[in-house]
Amino acid sequence: IRSVILGCGSYLPAKVVTNADLAQIVDTSDEWITERTGIKSRHIAADGELTSDLAYHAAVAAMEHAGITANDLDLIVLATATPDNTFPATAVKVQARLGMTRGAAFDLQAVCSGFVYALSVADNFIKAGQAKTVLVIGAETFSRILDWNDRTTCVLFGDGAGAVVLRATEGAGTADDQGILSTHLHSDGNHHDLLYVDGGPSSTQTVGHVRMRGQEVFKHAVVNLAEVVKEALATHHLSADAIDWLVPHQANRRIIEGTGRKLKLPAERVVVTVDHHGNTSAASIPLALAEAVNDGRIKRGDLLLLEAMGGGFTWGGALVRF
Ligand code: ACO
Repeated sequence: IRSVILGCGSYLPAKVVTNADLAQIVDTSDEWITERTGIKSRHIAADGELTSDLAYHAAVAAMEHAGITANDLDLIVLATATPDNTFPATAVKVQARLGMTRGAAFDLQAVCSGFVYALSVADNFIKAGQAKTVLVIGAETFSRILDWNDRTTCVLFGDGAGAVVLRATEGAGTADDQGILSTHLHSDGNHHDLLYVDGGPSSTQTVGHVRMRGQEVFKHAVVNLAEVVKEALATHHLSADAIDWLVPHQANRRIIEGTGRKLKLPAERVVVTVDHHGNTSAASIPLALAEAVNDGRIKRGDLLLLEAMGGGFTWGGALVRF
């Protein structure tokens, strides 16, 4: 049994915040942000608009695209580092709002790698025969955990959500068959202090804010992403030119271009949304996927390489025949 992506969808809050808007709040400039990150604008959730709201709208779009209803679903895996509440899981709020009454729903936390982790977990549920139709969501409201006085972090992130529907399909599949070919997960808890939130229910009983040593995160990201991409390709004895589209986590244009260059992929085969989404953490890959599918760039049968790296550190990749 393997997992096929039946459909995908996404949702962005209406409010757009430009670099010029941010320059009104902190000592920064459009020039600095553009040059260092490639980000020009990001979407920010309205007051009262929660991660579960963004997730719900992305889920509905993905289910419409897949041509299924909530009755077809037997599992929801929702990746987020910014849940509505400490508990219950944001996934069960989405489950209730979709009107899904059977099966299970849970959250998964791997920060910016969350979507790749969630895809891997869902794929393994399907392979194990424990689920047939799975909604995988990445949804974040990072704006709520940013220190809006810290120019080194608050300019980097945005809010949003993306989702895919996976369906169990007979056959193990070859690299030419449609579906998830493989997923590759890694983590290393030794680098906690390079990227973390300085709060939480057990430690400070507060929510806390994102803290990051950007340059060091950058160096680790470049190395870890190169390794996981190599691992994914080697698993299938594929060379990089077999890839139709690199759909990377959108943290920084320089990291994305670095990975693309290592793979010798022309820029036209790399999906970039960081310029208008910023870093939406677990939402960035499904947002990028939905955008490129909706505008006709990604077509059925294309080979996609997804990759991400985030706090933990966590990192991972997935090869998918769309
Ligand atoms: N506006 C203006 N100046 C700024 C800003 C800002 N928003 N932020 C920092 N600066 C200043 C710094 O204070 C510093 O000034 P100084 O030289 O006087 O001390 C100068 O700009 C250079 O700062 P650096 O941190 O060295 O800049 P760098 O080129 O490393 O870029 C950045 C910083 C964009 C954060 C980069 O390191 C990066 O993208 N790192 C990856 C981090 C990341 O993407 N994390 C997301 C989560 S993990 C992931 O998804 C991969």
